[in-house]
Amino acid sequence: MEAHKQLTIGLFGFGVVGEGVYKVLQQTPSLKASIKKVCIKNPEKKRDASQELFTADKNDLLSDPDINVIIEVINDSEAAFEIVSTALSNGKSVVSASKKMIAEYLPELLELQKQTGESLLYESAACASIPVIRNLEEYYDNDLLYSIRAIVNGSTNFILTKMFEEKLEFQEALLLAQQLGFAESDPKLDVEGFDAVNKWTFLLTHAYGIIERPENIVFNGIQNIQSADAAVSKEKNFDIKLVAQAKKLQNGKVAAFVLPQFVKLDGHLAFVKNEYNGVVIESSFADKQFFYGKGAGSFPTASAILSDLSALRYQYKYEYKKLYHHTPHQLTNDFHVKVYVSFDDWKYIPREKFEWIDEWHAGSARKYLVGGIHFNELKQNTWWKDNNTSLILLPEAVVEDMEIRKLKKKSLELAGIV
Ligand code: HSE
Repeated sequence: MEAHKQLTIGLFGFGVVGEGVYKVLQQTPSLKASIKKVCIKNPEKKRDASQELFTADKNDLLSDPDINVIIEVINDSEAAFEIVSTALSNGKSVVSASKKMIAEYLPELLELQKQTGESLLYESAACASIPVIRNLEEYYDNDLLYSIRAIVNGSTNFILTKMFEEKLEFQEALLLAQQLGFAESDPKLDVEGFDAVNKWTFLLTHAYGIIERPENIVFNGIQNIQSADAAVSKEKNFDIKLVAQAKKLQNGKVAAFVLPQFVKLDGHLAFVKNEYNGVVIESSFADKQFFYGKGAGSFPTASAILSDLSALRYQYKYEYKKLYHHTPHQLTNDFHVKVYVSFDDWKYIPREKFEWIDEWHAGSARKYLVGGIHFNELKQNTWWKDNNTSLILLPEAVVEDMEIRKLKKKSLELAGIV
């Protein structure tokens, strides 16, 4: 696409995000971008835009030679992939917000970008208004990026905030997140961590060159977190967040997962409330940097789409530098994590799997223990999320070999064994 050329857009989807894009574009004439057609599933539905704009036939957009950009913001990931691949093959640039589709079809999308030379941008698909993808892609060199810790799902963060700070019930908080347009149409995707791990899948590609299927990354959501966990968290001066993490280990491999975690009250992530997202990046020389902004909602998501459109005007493409220009990092499950596990009955907890135990509490209702476990145990088994069991990582959860002996000794001392 020539620089400064008029962008003629075909938009797929007119839900919370699609309508947001339409409105935001109307308010940004300086961008020289206009929507020619919008493809929707149900043409009968009343919408707040001229009826002629809409069609139910995708070819009206995909085969129109005037349309040089496709914006795709639909829910169905198979249909989204079909649209994106046809658009790229037809020589159109694509801006997508479909995190599930991007996570599930990443290898195919990489191949399509290579084959067609067309640009596929998706800044809005992770952390909405925070420019995290372009920053990871452009700013951080492969070797300098030490760790990333992020809140990447607005709905779960909103629910946790409303439950623990405003004492709303889980269902009430979820309903509110749905009404405000933050939640997925199937809210299980938010609550059980699927949306967060989908986003983490491609953020790992831009950060470390890792290509992994979302189901191979250990994750959980907030569905098992109980008020008893919140009470323990308060007692220990922590907050509970759903945190996506990646940390480069001393052997150069990367530990990565999405799990609930206790965060220190004076830390960056504790500051992130409601539908906001936050990303803390640690790099070798800059120490910590913190990115913060709205992670869900119509206009925050549309703002990132707008920025992608603007980038298309100077022919911006992701180079996937960490994948193609460096030696990509590998994921590993060979490390330990410090965990808190709360449960209804000891029979659900294989205590022998813990390498060390620092604390345990055997109340009549909810019981818990705090200790260390090999990460592979979480990868290979599900007891830690079955039977109403709730696993929450401790702050600084990842433990490498050298520290383990020290932690084991401390735990034996605590038990009065040595
Ligand atoms: N359901 C998503 C969230 C929307 O709550 O973060 C933004 O991707």
